[in-house]
Amino acid sequence: MVKGDIMKTFYVTTPIYYSSGSVHIGNSYSTIVCDVFARYHRLKGDDTFFLTGMDEHGQKIENTAKEQNLTPQALVDGIAEQTSKLWEKLNISNDDFIRTSEERHTKIVQDVFEKLIAKGDVYLDEYEGDYCIFDEAFFTKTQMTEPGICPDCNRPTVKLKEEGYFLKLKKYEKRLLDYINDNPDFIQPATRRNEVVSFIEQGLEDLCVSRTSFTWGVPVKSNPKHVIYVWIDALMNYITALGYGSDDDSKYKKYWINGDKVAHVVGKDILRFHAIYWPILLMALDIPLNFKLYVHGWFLMKEGKMSKSKGN
Ligand code: ME8
Ligand code: MG
Repeated sequence: MVKGDIMKTFYVTTPIYYSSGSVHIGNSYSTIVCDVFARYHRLKGDDTFFLTGMDEHGQKIENTAKEQNLTPQALVDGIAEQTSKLWEKLNISNDDFIRTSEERHTKIVQDVFEKLIAKGDVYLDEYEGDYCIFDEAFFTKTQMTEPGICPDCNRPTVKLKEEGYFLKLKKYEKRLLDYINDNPDFIQPATRRNEVVSFIEQGLEDLCVSRTSFTWGVPVKSNPKHVIYVWIDALMNYITALGYGSDDDSKYKKYWINGDKVAHVVGKDILRFHAIYWPILLMALDIPLNFKLYVHGWFLMKEGKMSKSKGN
């Protein structure tokens, strides 16, 4: 630390990886980028907190466990152990490793969901649409270039009709767009920001944020036949790991509320979730949007993107 410098805080996060299979070189890429980022800030003398972890809920993981004759918990326990060993081997300097099946996380996700229902930003309705189990995402007719085919991964989608809770994205659409325009460094690089802006300008639809067709997830406290949509659950990791909403929220106060810099590093595949759902969730919870999103591209192989399901 240079004499006279004021110590700053730096909080950096990787995406939390799906526990549906072993992590691969693509996931490692993001983790290494964050590690470099974290080490640079520590060298500068910044008070640095580096988070990574595992995204352990959702239908894909429930299905994978069934195929392997395991309980979902046993499947994700194995993958978490394997992954943290790999990060050790790569000398990754993370300060914490959050798993979304941990109680420190699930409890807060449940509380947050109840808060959003009470506030009216999450409401009960009925949903019918095309769902991609692989990407754990609904797609609207306009997003699908070919009916019944996921525009992201080209796998067949399934028709889902269920009672569901919805998050009011529309309500926050204008506020988000203004925020993005007023804060040009919020989403980087600019090509990704432009993508997000044009997506929002087409108009947002409220997002279905619960499922009743499977059980491996965080149950809605007041209506436990619903489990909370895995993406809402997963995004919350960035603050539950800091103790948000718990008895000890000192890290949350230090690195998020009063922090100097928060950096989420993600691949372009999960841009929409981090640039639209996450900020809106934070707005709905009255949490300041003081993070920056750094979006990188993909390692490619002849068959396309590296991926767990392809096993390449
Ligand atoms: O999306 N090249 O998890 P995931 C570069 N659980 N980076 C790559 C890559 C490639 N070929 N393939 C993957 C999920 N990545 C969710 C995230 S966060 C709240 C929830 C990296 O296991 C890249 O960072 O599919 C990408 O965004 C991430 O791994 C996706 O990992
Ligand atoms: Mg993926």
